[in-house]
Amino acid sequence: MVPRLSINRPLRAVFFEEEKMEQKLISLIKQLETKLKEIETINDLNLLKSEYLGKKSVFNDLMKELKNVSKEEKPTVGKMINEAKQTIAKRIEEAKLSLEQKMVEHKIKTETIDVTLPGKNMNIGSKHLISQIIEEVEDIFIGLGYTVKEGPEIETDLYNFEMLNLPKNHPARDMQDSLYISEEKLLRTHTSPVQVRSLLENKNQEPMKIICPGKVYRKDDDDQTHSHQFTQIEALVIDHDATLADLKGTLLFVAKKLFGEDREIRLRPSFFPFTEPSVEVDVTCYKCGGKGCSMCGYTGWIEILGAGMVNNNVLKNAGYDPNKFQGFALGMGVERIAILKYGIDDIRAFYTNDLRFNQQFRGK
Ligand code: DAH
Repeated sequence: MVPRLSINRPLRAVFFEEEKMEQKLISLIKQLETKLKEIETINDLNLLKSEYLGKKSVFNDLMKELKNVSKEEKPTVGKMINEAKQTIAKRIEEAKLSLEQKMVEHKIKTETIDVTLPGKNMNIGSKHLISQIIEEVEDIFIGLGYTVKEGPEIETDLYNFEMLNLPKNHPARDMQDSLYISEEKLLRTHTSPVQVRSLLENKNQEPMKIICPGKVYRKDDDDQTHSHQFTQIEALVIDHDATLADLKGTLLFVAKKLFGEDREIRLRPSFFPFTEPSVEVDVTCYKCGGKGCSMCGYTGWIEILGAGMVNNNVLKNAGYDPNKFQGFALGMGVERIAILKYGIDDIRAFYTNDLRFNQQFRGK
């Protein structure tokens, strides 16, 4: 449709210049409308906008022409030009809106989601089995009123050995091949030095019940059953009257929680420099229930940890009077617990970080 300029014409003869300008403006608008129909992008639209409304647009020339228009016609012609300019601006704005609308519609059409396509698989991480076992054991002991303690992995010879009744050059040190950093410092070979640290920290010598999980290191060649690094959990109870019977009761409770309510335990005499008497603790085989199978070497029993009554020398070294205090300690290998619980046949699987191994224990 040819646009008509809505110019208020006075009731008088139409002037020549006025008529000419009106024709010019109408065809200008018509021309723009034709061009707008062909526009496909916002960029093209912007070019068109500056062609019609920009500094060097046709309107500039028209304004120049206005100078030559007679005085009487000037206001009407000027108004006409302005109105035409506004119409053009309006057409361009309309074109812009419809172009944007078209773009959105196109996007919606081409970006439709096919809900039947298989989804993207998200890799959900999980806690490492070792962490899971540590937390499980922590929960059991916390339930018994213990608190969790930690100690450094770089330990002194004093805390790792001497204060635990393992003097320098004592043959019992041969039980634990050690990785020394200097004459006096080494990577701790067990979590037992946290016992010493906790005894020393306990300035008022209050009775205490602690467990200490953490990494330990040995100078071992890695194979199916050995690793230069593994994890232990130590427990220590110091009181005035804690007995071997308390130790046994605690061990039975923990074994049942970890391996099942049907489990029984037995204590075998053993030797550890830091306990006297010392015991090795076995649990009835959870596979055969104690009858004997390949899992337990046909004995019906599986060894799970070492324990004993805290050696008087350990108490004395930490400034406790053995006549007033007594207690028990135990140390378990976390990997060993995991291996027994889940039938893992190679200790290296814990550290080589094959996701297929780790993912088997997701949410155990
Ligand atoms: N520290 C010992 C080791 O690494 C384990 C151990 C045995 C800890 C008996 C104890 C204990 O506290 O009473 O072989």
